[in-house]
Amino acid sequence: MTPVPTGPDGRPGSAAHTGDATGSGATTVTAVDGTAAWELLLPAASAPARTRGRALQAALREAVRSGRLAPGTRLPSSRDLAADLGVSRGLITEAYEQLTAEGYLRSGRGAGTWVGDAVRAARPRARDLAPRSGSDRAGFVPGTPDLSLFPRSAWGAAQRSVLAELPHEALGYPDPRGLPRLRTALAELLTRRRGVVADPERLVVVSGVAQATALLASVLHARGVRTAGVESPGSPQHDALYASAGVATVPLPLDDEGLALGPLHASGVRAVVTTPAHQFPTGIAYSARRRAALLDWARSVDGLVLEDDYDGDFRYDRAPVGALQGLDPERVAYTGSVSKSLAPGLRLGWLLVPEWLADDVVERKRTTDLGHPALDQALLARFVERGEYDRQLRLCQRAYRERRDVLVAALAEHFPGSRVSGIAAGLHAIATLPERYGPEERFLARVAEAGVAVRSLAQYGHGASGAEGAKRMVRLVLGYAHLTPGRIRAGVERMAKAV
Ligand SMILES: Cc1ncc(COP(=O)(O)O)c(C=O)c1O
Repeated sequence: MTPVPTGPDGRPGSAAHTGDATGSGATTVTAVDGTAAWELLLPAASAPARTRGRALQAALREAVRSGRLAPGTRLPSSRDLAADLGVSRGLITEAYEQLTAEGYLRSGRGAGTWVGDAVRAARPRARDLAPRSGSDRAGFVPGTPDLSLFPRSAWGAAQRSVLAELPHEALGYPDPRGLPRLRTALAELLTRRRGVVADPERLVVVSGVAQATALLASVLHARGVRTAGVESPGSPQHDALYASAGVATVPLPLDDEGLALGPLHASGVRAVVTTPAHQFPTGIAYSARRRAALLDWARSVDGLVLEDDYDGDFRYDRAPVGALQGLDPERVAYTGSVSKSLAPGLRLGWLLVPEWLADDVVERKRTTDLGHPALDQALLARFVERGEYDRQLRLCQRAYRERRDVLVAALAEHFPGSRVSGIAAGLHAIATLPERYGPEERFLARVAEAGVAVRSLAQYGHGASGAEGAKRMVRLVLGYAHLTPGRIRAGVERMAKAV
């Protein structure tokens, strides 16, 4: 590292330049990643003469904004930098003056130009931007499909066709419910695949289950609802989304068949959020009896069930159980998205609402964002209409079933005696390890030290201590869909070695 000079106010800089503004032959100023300052500007220096000045300013601004040139770094003299870049000195002087006026740079009392620190606070730390998945640290954390299975070429082809065929009018503000073409395609798809009662008039295109939940929560709040039941253990998303609408969540325990009826009846709530196809995170599928009882409860309290069908498309050993909504569309609001089947980054989903809530939900959607992006909607419509979406589901289904089997086999080999449940469907499984691997806290600490990220079932609870012995028992929620078979085996082996 080159010595650290001080800035005009005596504060240390992070890179070195010993020249003054008049230029006296100097050591190289380096960016924080070791690149010479002039190298950062080289591409801009070779821009056409007409735009070179602006290009240099933009490159310098970006180097400061991104943090590559750290606050306090003294810049080369205009003469040196101009010579290094082979541009006129006037361009550099101009760039320094412009960026000083904007606050990116500051000039000293005597001579010299330094990187200012005005942008420091606005600059996110690299750590904050680090991807949360794809790295080794992601381990078995559930919630993400295999993003490498995204059908890029088919999606790209659909994009080109949609752009070519879309009439100009379709680029105006869309119907807040969504494009009629997509609502029709989704209604057909959901009726066929999930057994829902889907009227395109009652289907609202949303940016995912998250938005569907938030819309519904705020509509319920406007109607005076202040509490809603959630499954416990359950998705923290549900709590957060309801809380943001001013609705407090009441954790309701589960038994082997689904939401336990006694606590549900005793809770006094009239709205409840459920994941009946593959409960998140326990993986249980609600029994037929419990589904019927849940609907009886909803009718008896004149209430509403929100059915979050977050991974209902993936069922491995027998035909999928139809959605709860099909049994009583006036008591169930049904929501799902392409987050598990295509990619969560697309932010596309749907909400089927009972008639008595439809106008309020559509109005809320309109005031929230004036409708969902039209191009994305047209693209998904085409994808569904042409059978590409079904093809994608089949491809994922095959891949995820294989991964599930690999996970089960690896657990049997490396953690003999463990019980794996919740594997009939979905993208994650629950592994209950024999007591000798506990207590859970120690297990999790050791596995984390070994660099494998895992979640325990207890982390999805609502603070209740659970059954006796539960603390000693290790119960893991293992997401497997995003991992290749090789990484699943390696991850399980690494956990076993760590403990
Ligand atoms: C229980 C549950 N529902 C829904 C979702 C997906 O939400 P969205 O469709 O907004 O991506 C998730 C995300 O992982 C989830 O865990």
